[in-house]
Amino acid sequence: MSAPVLPDGVPRHVAIIMDGNGRWATERGLPRSAGHRQGVEALRRTVRAAGDIGIGVLTLYSFSSENWSRPASEVRFLLELLRRFIRTDVAELHQANVRVMMIGDRDGLEGTLRTMVEEAEALTRENDGMKLVIAFNYGSRQEITRAVRVIARKVAEGKIAPGDITPAVIGDHLDTGGLPEPDLLIRTGGEQRLSNYLLWQCAYTEFVFIPDYWPEFGAELLGRAISAYRMRDRRFGGVKSQSA
Ligand code: IPE
Ligand code: IPE
Ligand code: MG
Repeated sequence: MSAPVLPDGVPRHVAIIMDGNGRWATERGLPRSAGHRQGVEALRRTVRAAGDIGIGVLTLYSFSSENWSRPASEVRFLLELLRRFIRTDVAELHQANVRVMMIGDRDGLEGTLRTMVEEAEALTRENDGMKLVIAFNYGSRQEITRAVRVIARKVAEGKIAPGDITPAVIGDHLDTGGLPEPDLLIRTGGEQRLSNYLLWQCAYTEFVFIPDYWPEFGAELLGRAISAYRMRDRRFGGVKSQSA
């Protein structure tokens, strides 16, 4: 089955920085873990809404390479949430024809968790609906560094000439190789920074920063972000066709 034609103005790839779980909880006198738990509910709502809208790729920043610096108990909780999510949600995602993928340094994950991720990817590999890309133990600089090492090895082995290294070759060696670049990046929680997310891939992405905390996110806020995106004039360094 070929990819569905997107309704006008629907971004093909939406990337989200799901931020603000801790503050959401703290403001309610709850432990940060309660915010992360509600964050998973928001994630479920968002995946459903994105599927309904017809978004092709949804990439969610779930745990950064730098998040290991958090207290051990919080790190443990976040790892356990990923485990639980795979155990409880992957079958349903498979039913919904969603393809589950992970980007990030999987070698840095404990063996059984890595196997669970690989099994989820294998189970859903043939699905041709939405791609749900989980960025876990992900850092863009680390990803680029890994890609450069692979390319350097190929050069050393004479498989590729330095002059043949193009932006497309570099893009293909990233964890996101084969995926379209994000059209829209949403960050909840009010901060206006990338925090080491998709630095290469977001060269021409439209950014929408929203003050609401991630546990509050869902169909309505996603719809509003897409409305804002549709108002943008994407020029990619060129000029608008009407004013050429
Ligand atoms: C995002 O919420 C979840 C992860 C980074 C794993 P935070 O935990 O960063 O929440 P804040 O930003 O401290 O409120
Ligand atoms: C970015 O949020 C990482 C994720 C949402 C997984 P952080 O909360 O870690 O980012 P900083 O520390 O505010 O930049
Ligand atoms: Mg944060």
